[in-house]
Amino acid sequence: MQNTQQRITSKTEGYKIVHIPSIMDERGGLSFAECGQLLDFTIKRAYWLYDIKDTRGGHAHKQLKQLIFCAHGTVDFILDDAVSSEVIKLDSPNKGLIINQTIWREIKNFSQDAAVIVLASDIYDETDYIRSYEEFKKWKSPY
Ligand code: TYD
Repeated sequence: MQNTQQRITSKTEGYKIVHIPSIMDERGGLSFAECGQLLDFTIKRAYWLYDIKDTRGGHAHKQLKQLIFCAHGTVDFILDDAVSSEVIKLDSPNKGLIINQTIWREIKNFSQDAAVIVLASDIYDETDYIRSYEEFKKWKSPY
């Protein structure tokens, strides 16, 4: 199977956009993500966001890696590495966002029908979260 990862050059460090393979036929679409192919981490948890009416996120993770995609609808991820920020629009079930370093994220502009799926490298652990932007800045530049 070919390696489907595609790095899109950006100023902001700590994420990459990947093409999620899909198989389309007359019955519809089927997409998949496999460890060792698309992912360089083992999935220990999945969670999903739906019926969202307001901004989510507003945190960074110390260790957690995630593959995020919008299975239906559209959403904007605002990613901030403490130096620069970028807006990543997830608008296709074939567009994956891998966040693999400590990066601040806000999640905005959910379409009414948005369904966002997150495949994560670890189980839920509140101690892995940085929920203060000041703390995040210190984490990125401790000296
Ligand atoms: P929160 O981190 O505020 O969500 P978001 O990043 O989307 O804004 O999480 C909301 C609540 O859900 C919070 O009480 C923690 C809980 N939660 C779990 O119990 N398990 C999980 O896997 C996740 C992601 C959240």
